[in-house]
Amino acid sequence: MSSKKDSSNSSGIAPPQHIAIIMDGNGRWAKSRHLPRSSGHQKGVQTVRKIVKHSAKLGVKTLTLFAFSSENMRRSSEEVGLLFKLFLSVLRTETKKLKENNIRLKIVGDLSAFTPEIIALAKEAESSLQKNTGLTLVIAANYGGQWDIAETAKKIAIDVSNGDIDPENIDTSLFNRYTSLSGLPEVDLLIRTSGEIRLSNFLLWDIAYSEFYFCKTLWPDFNEDSLDEAIDNFHRRDRRFGERNGEN
Ligand code: IPE
Ligand code: IPE
Ligand code: MG
Repeated sequence: MSSKKDSSNSSGIAPPQHIAIIMDGNGRWAKSRHLPRSSGHQKGVQTVRKIVKHSAKLGVKTLTLFAFSSENMRRSSEEVGLLFKLFLSVLRTETKKLKENNIRLKIVGDLSAFTPEIIALAKEAESSLQKNTGLTLVIAANYGGQWDIAETAKKIAIDVSNGDIDPENIDTSLFNRYTSLSGLPEVDLLIRTSGEIRLSNFLLWDIAYSEFYFCKTLWPDFNEDSLDEAIDNFHRRDRRFGERNGEN
């Protein structure tokens, strides 16, 4: 959970420890400019670069980005192919920059749908950045919140059948240890761009007490100031976690 004592930035206020973003609106951004959807996705990658850099500068510990949902696989084969290509080229070109910026990488989601080349590059990138100590960048690719919960249940069931877990000991903290985001700070702030007010099967288990921030800005137009605005808004929230803050 976030504490104002941790990792203060230059403004003296600690940023949220874990920010998760549903990066939406690439297609509408392109459409409004009479460009192909691919241009929107390409411009979206530029926003990712800016936001990763800015989050690291602010001292955010974990940034989880929804790059590609399990449901996005239902898009045209042309668009899915393009998104895969983009993912591959980002993995090829960005890993070096992430290394220079002391950023760790974790890719979550059902990677089995990707090409062997993408899977190999993803694993390579994760392991080459493993020793970094700065921001942890989590990329959710072919990810679904329901998939994550089902996978967790499956892994726990395997350990129960192996005799490693007594079913009596299954509780929320044990469950946490098996989820995709296991070991990372709780998600403090969940942002969705483009004006849609829904989760679209992003994190479900992990956002039990997250603050939600929805903005109209389309992802390709989102920038450092937009993130600062979301964080300012977050700091004005009264996070009670079910308690009464000393009131009777
Ligand atoms: C988000 O932009 C990126 C992905 C889902 C991969 P969209 O492609 O959903 O853009 P809109 O919602 O059609 O504008
Ligand atoms: C959610 O956006 C997925 C990502 C941003 C990666 P979508 O555009 O796929 O969601 P819906 O279809 O509007 O719910
Ligand atoms: Mg969308």
